[in-house]
Amino acid sequence: MNKKPEKKEKTKKGELQLLRGMKDILPNEQDYWELIRNKVAQFASLYGYERLDPPVLESTALFLRSTGKYSDVVEKEMFSFIDKGGDNVSLRPELTPSMCRAYIEHGMVNLPQPVKLYTLAPVFRHDKPQAGRYRQFYQIDFEVIGSSRPVIDAEMIAIQYFLYKDLGLQAQVQINSVGCPHCRPTYENLLREYYHTKKRNLCETCKKRLQRNALRLLDCKEEACREMAEGAPQFLDNLCEECREHFVKVLEHLDAAEIPYTLNSHIVRGLDYYTKTAFEFYPILGEGEKEGSQSAISGGGRYDLLISELGGREGTGAIGFAIGVERLILLLKAQQITIPAPKQIDIFLAQVGESARKQAIRLLEELRKAGFNARALLDKESLSAQLSLASKLGVKFTLILGQKEMLDKTILLRDMSSGAQEIVDVKKVQHELSKRLDKLNGEK
Ligand code: HAM
Repeated sequence: MNKKPEKKEKTKKGELQLLRGMKDILPNEQDYWELIRNKVAQFASLYGYERLDPPVLESTALFLRSTGKYSDVVEKEMFSFIDKGGDNVSLRPELTPSMCRAYIEHGMVNLPQPVKLYTLAPVFRHDKPQAGRYRQFYQIDFEVIGSSRPVIDAEMIAIQYFLYKDLGLQAQVQINSVGCPHCRPTYENLLREYYHTKKRNLCETCKKRLQRNALRLLDCKEEACREMAEGAPQFLDNLCEECREHFVKVLEHLDAAEIPYTLNSHIVRGLDYYTKTAFEFYPILGEGEKEGSQSAISGGGRYDLLISELGGREGTGAIGFAIGVERLILLLKAQQITIPAPKQIDIFLAQVGESARKQAIRLLEELRKAGFNARALLDKESLSAQLSLASKLGVKFTLILGQKEMLDKTILLRDMSSGAQEIVDVKKVQHELSKRLDKLNGEK
């Protein structure tokens, strides 16, 4: 007996569409991604970084412990869920915790220190989407674990500076120190005193932050809070001796490397683990370009206490940064940076008739193996459709294989700019093509 076909369930509106804040990286954007991937791999190798790719999913506890229970990223933006085994897991909102976990878990403390790691990978934050802010986005992440020396802070900043420069981008670092557990409580008290009489004018979030995380009041984007932050006491005037000395040395190294910087006491970073140096890179805007409130391309800093907080060896100094790839691409486009043109297609193979089509795959493979960049349009029979695609692709020569040529073991070679065609022995076709392409390239 024939079974009745099951009724298809109705889909809700939008249910089969891209989720809010997510983005398809379409073929026409891939040149930018390719450029960035290559540049990052090149810089990583030049500066001695090795690639480590942690998994996308980690235990939620890892981020509570590192990124911070009360940070916006953990409190409001994590994609967390209970998995089928009952574990509380999260899509990583950043890469630093995973890199540190991997360093500890794989005993990298036994390797020559510092250990330099990098990756380029997606991270997830359930933030309010807008231009340059997504719920899945990619970070280029660099971490140095096992050194507390100020020269490493300067080198971290240098990598970003030279990478942006190499890409043709104008960007500058803004730098600050967020102190350490010795000096931070005293400074936070100073801030609380400063804000005490102004409390009622603060935004609701800052009112809550005042007790728990007073530093964050300094980077609130609300107009009234920004104005108040202008007059706040500065951390740089209140650092302990060790943090002050460290900071001065970082600046000395930057001066020596001729890397320009701006001191900005409002760079306090939104993640909990930072100590001492904190920095963010901002684009240098041309005339008429508007500065968005979320315009940092990259950010990072020192986190000397995180490794021990996660169970690693006490006193393991570390520092890192992350660049937002989508923001980098937006900037490349805004600053009209041209990317290298994709490789020119040399040859188009057109086929007429069934038997010619049967030979096309083999012939194309032979051409590709010989180093030609060859294309075809195998699912079309019309020669004019095939030739029209060949012109669209800007191909210099088209090979036309028909019934007659099949029998004669020849092929028609068409010069696409003049339209001239000649018959060539199939065995000699590669040689003839090379000769003509070399001549064309020589004339350029
Ligand atoms: P972060 O400042 O949270 O730092 O993120 C780094 C970069 O990721 C930002 O400067 C921005 O370019 C990009 N980004 C952040 N949120 C979004 C978003 N919603 N959409 C698109 N791009 C975004 C960190 O994540 C630290 N783990 C950096 C670090 C490494 N610190 C030490 N080591």
